[in-house]
Amino acid sequence: MAKQQTKGVVVKNAADRLIAKLKGDTSWFVHDRFGMFIHWGLYSLLARHEWVKNREQLTDGQYEKYFHAFYPDLYNPREWARAAAQAGMKYFVITAKHHEGFCLWDSKHTDYNATQTPWGKDLIKPMVEAFREEGIRVGLYYSLLDWHHPDFPVDRNHPQREDKAFREREKNRDVRKYAAYMRHQVKELLTQFGQIDVLWFDFSYPGEDGKGCKDWESEELAALVRRLQPNIIVDDRLDLPGFGDISTPEQFQPRTWVTRDGKRVTWEACQTFSGSWGYHRDEQSWRDPGELIRTLIDTVSKGGNLLLNVGPTARGEFDGRALERLKSIGEWMRRHSRSIYGCTEAPPEFPCPRDCRLTYNPKLNRLYVHIFAWPYKQLSLDGFAGKVSYAQLLHDGSEVAMKGVATWQLEAAKNAGFSEDTLTLTLPQTPPTVTIPVVELFLK
Ligand code: GLC
Repeated sequence: MAKQQTKGVVVKNAADRLIAKLKGDTSWFVHDRFGMFIHWGLYSLLARHEWVKNREQLTDGQYEKYFHAFYPDLYNPREWARAAAQAGMKYFVITAKHHEGFCLWDSKHTDYNATQTPWGKDLIKPMVEAFREEGIRVGLYYSLLDWHHPDFPVDRNHPQREDKAFREREKNRDVRKYAAYMRHQVKELLTQFGQIDVLWFDFSYPGEDGKGCKDWESEELAALVRRLQPNIIVDDRLDLPGFGDISTPEQFQPRTWVTRDGKRVTWEACQTFSGSWGYHRDEQSWRDPGELIRTLIDTVSKGGNLLLNVGPTARGEFDGRALERLKSIGEWMRRHSRSIYGCTEAPPEFPCPRDCRLTYNPKLNRLYVHIFAWPYKQLSLDGFAGKVSYAQLLHDGSEVAMKGVATWQLEAAKNAGFSEDTLTLTLPQTPPTVTIPVVELFLK
């Protein structure tokens, strides 16, 4: 079935090395902070994790029926884009091709794409148009792994990794042909859909029976990308030392600002609602909106971005459980987005009080105290005295009284853990009815 063309663009020279070192434009990225990841493919039909072909060691033959059943008749990317915009997301990243090898666009280099299924149409063009109309920037995810391509050598992650006869039969697969195939496809993706703001490669696993930059010919690939779209942001998963505009911790929260070789880097945590990236019908481990909003705040308080994933169904709709959570996040963002956009980690002279997170907007010179556990009547901020000119609750703009420690109180105050540089905020006894209350501090 698959028609694989391998002739093509090979870029091998010193210029590549130089070009591959160039950087993308992250200026908008570190302002916008919040994006949507979308994992969609044939695995959405199996509805039990995007690695299902690997986990159940399915052959191409066993997987083929999903290709012939692919028909997302409820697909309306405007609804997706609206849900993302309403949630306050400013960019999105769609899996143009995931590890299973199926392509959502009309690639000329394989028949294993959406136009050859009963659906018969490209899915990417209407999607990027719909998101752009909502003012949302466009990112494409491209899998380096390909469990369908006949030139992708079988390795420790391949679905048929334990099938000795198959491995023997397929031992002469030529990874160079596969690397050329990837360049062909990446060229299509970066020349057919207008400006692409993020390119999200996934992932390298060098070592025993694995694959890395040599297999992918990463330098050539990186140079090609940089030539086609110089400002594009590329992630750090090509196994190319020092390459990548963003670091991408996945499904965990870093404890501090992410560093590479001891230096702080631009980073983006990618997270799911429930564990699986692809639509998982029976997964019950869904995170509640409060926890998701705290994750967004926590990420920005450490100078990072959050890419929150949605796995649409095989019919082409967002899962209702995802829509509910996007709606709640949007409700909070409607009143609190200025404590996220354009914000970063607080300056070191403002230590973070317990059960809170701090975000800071250098342009506005304002600090945001995100209160994760509502304190009784007052919140004490050590080190803040004399540095704040005004304070208000962000959701309604209501003034928050501030007081320092008067000299005559100092003795008693010290015994109670206050110091003269402690600023105390007087808070209402009952917490505001917003998911995470925030106090906005106007700094002097
Ligand atoms: C992991 C998952 C992969 C997913 C990626 C997103 O690598 O295995 O399926 O696409 O994370 O970050």
